[in-house]
Amino acid sequence: MPKEKASSYSVPKLGTFTGPTLDKAVAKLLAAVDAESKHLSQEREWKDFRDRWLSRNNGLLAQVNELWLKAAPKESKREVGQRVNELKKKVDYQIEDIRSRLVSRPSTGEEAGKSESDREMSKPAPDSRALDITLPGIERPLGAEHPVIKTMNEIVSVFRGLGYSVEEGPEIETDYYNFEALNFPPNHPARDTQDTLFIADQDHKPPRERLLLRTHTSPVQIRAMGKTKPPLRIVCPGKVHRNDAPDATHSPIFHQVEGLAVDTNITFSDLKGTLDYAMKTLFGSSVKTRFYPSFFPFTEPSADVQISCIFCNGAGRRDGAACRNCKASGWIELLGCGMVDPNVYSFVDYDATKVSGFAFGMGVERIAILKYGVGDIQMFFQGDVRFLQQFA
Ligand code: DAH
Repeated sequence: MPKEKASSYSVPKLGTFTGPTLDKAVAKLLAAVDAESKHLSQEREWKDFRDRWLSRNNGLLAQVNELWLKAAPKESKREVGQRVNELKKKVDYQIEDIRSRLVSRPSTGEEAGKSESDREMSKPAPDSRALDITLPGIERPLGAEHPVIKTMNEIVSVFRGLGYSVEEGPEIETDYYNFEALNFPPNHPARDTQDTLFIADQDHKPPRERLLLRTHTSPVQIRAMGKTKPPLRIVCPGKVHRNDAPDATHSPIFHQVEGLAVDTNITFSDLKGTLDYAMKTLFGSSVKTRFYPSFFPFTEPSADVQISCIFCNGAGRRDGAACRNCKASGWIELLGCGMVDPNVYSFVDYDATKVSGFAFGMGVERIAILKYGVGDIQMFFQGDVRFLQQFA
């Protein structure tokens, strides 16, 4: 048989871009790859052959891109693109296949003259054609919701069921929204209760415009009231930051769900009923709640909510010893709440003589820790799959 000239193929321009023309062009190109590969007997030749076809600069496939894909009219681009992609995959596969056939041939005694890299290349490669279909497939495990997100979604869905909608706000917040409009006046000592991470180099700005990492989700209340007239019922889930050193119960990053209901005639009993229902839904119907006087600048009166200890059923003792989870008190403190301070309404143009409302805020990790019996808040953030997969 006359020996075909090895490199006679060149990528043709296409007259039309119809299916049959493309079929023919693709078949010719693949046949050319095959024909050229027949003349190869050494690794070095294979490399030249590979570069001729695959070189990014001016390899034949790069030319296919130019002459077929780029030249195709708009309406054929999609189809030509698909064909070219398939073609590239085939050629890649074919060229790799040719290499593995080459290197698995019995040695011809030429080894001595080969360079180090040739010898490296000539190591028998795993035969890409040897496919054992009896092997089990590759298992690709599905991910799962992170326990913090899972708990946050659970809390949110309790309130969605009560007719609340979800609002979100920025994690980088201004001093105004994080503090001032929530009735924390500048330099007020109440600000010290929230160790704040400020963004550097903002001294040139007026204090209320300076940026910080929000220390709570309460600023979303103000943003929501700023854009919506009452009545309003919202929950605001999200990430917050405090300048706290990490330990078993503290983390500089954590999550909160904030709630706000404003309407006419909302009373403290509405607040109590709502939170009692929410705690029972989250922790079980036998859980009791109690409201303890507290202080937050944006609510008056304010309260901390405690739930009866879910470990000792509120007894304070478990297995004949003091319950460690509630420090033998029978109660666990869980969240803050109160009636919206009328001062807050003046920042958002709500008429404090006509509306009233309540607000609450809870830490998501704290609730997840209790629900799942997690010993250390840091575990939520370490990304250890052995820990996380238990919640999948
Ligand atoms: N923002 C408070 C905090 O991070 C939590 C809180 C307490 C939110 C009472 C409220 C509230 O809306 O009424 O400590």
